[in-house]
Amino acid sequence: MKTAIVYYSMCGNTEFIADKIRKKLGDVDLIEITPVKTYPSKGIRKFLWGGKSAIMSEKPKLNPYTFSAENYEQVIIGFPVWASRIAPPLRTFVEDNKEALKDKTVSAYACQAGNGAEKAFAGLKNLLGIADYKATTILIDPKEKPSEDNEKAVAAFCEKLK
Ligand SMILES: Cc1cc2nc3c(=O)[nH]c(=O)nc-3n(C[C@H](O)[C@H](O)[C@H](O)COP(=O)(O)O)c2cc1C
Repeated sequence: MKTAIVYYSMCGNTEFIADKIRKKLGDVDLIEITPVKTYPSKGIRKFLWGGKSAIMSEKPKLNPYTFSAENYEQVIIGFPVWASRIAPPLRTFVEDNKEALKDKTVSAYACQAGNGAEKAFAGLKNLLGIADYKATTILIDPKEKPSEDNEKAVAAFCEKLK
């Protein structure tokens, strides 16, 4: 089953998981979304700018990417949780591809430090206008803090996607 993983990753955790899923599932294209204007990735500015952008539901302009929904049987959206929301670059992606994604099988995974992913999944579901996801999972800073829980969560997620 041809799968697209569309993700944004500021510090590498979400990307780390995209790569793991690709290795486990096989026939996967990774589509990284990046904003034209990068967010500060260090210090307090990282949380202030990104947090404000997420709370304001901003839709930052994205660098060009290639995504044709008709090429995929399922789409996975991977995001870092920002202020209990999806990171804003994914908001832009979903808005830009809403029609194409409407009839797709969509799953999602969230990387977070503590909590907020459930609220973010609900917000993303609303944005997508879908009844439900095929599967979701939550990882705790998986690149920075490798753990058995994260490994189990990815494995169970991939089982549901097959
Ligand atoms: C602006 C900003 C807001 C964040 N808000 C949350 C949050 O609400 N809850 C949480 O558990 N982690 C939060 N985090 C932490 C990230 O979600 C977490 O470290 C994630 O693994 C980072 O993924 P990445 O390395 O792919 O960017 C926030 C990080 C940033 C930069």
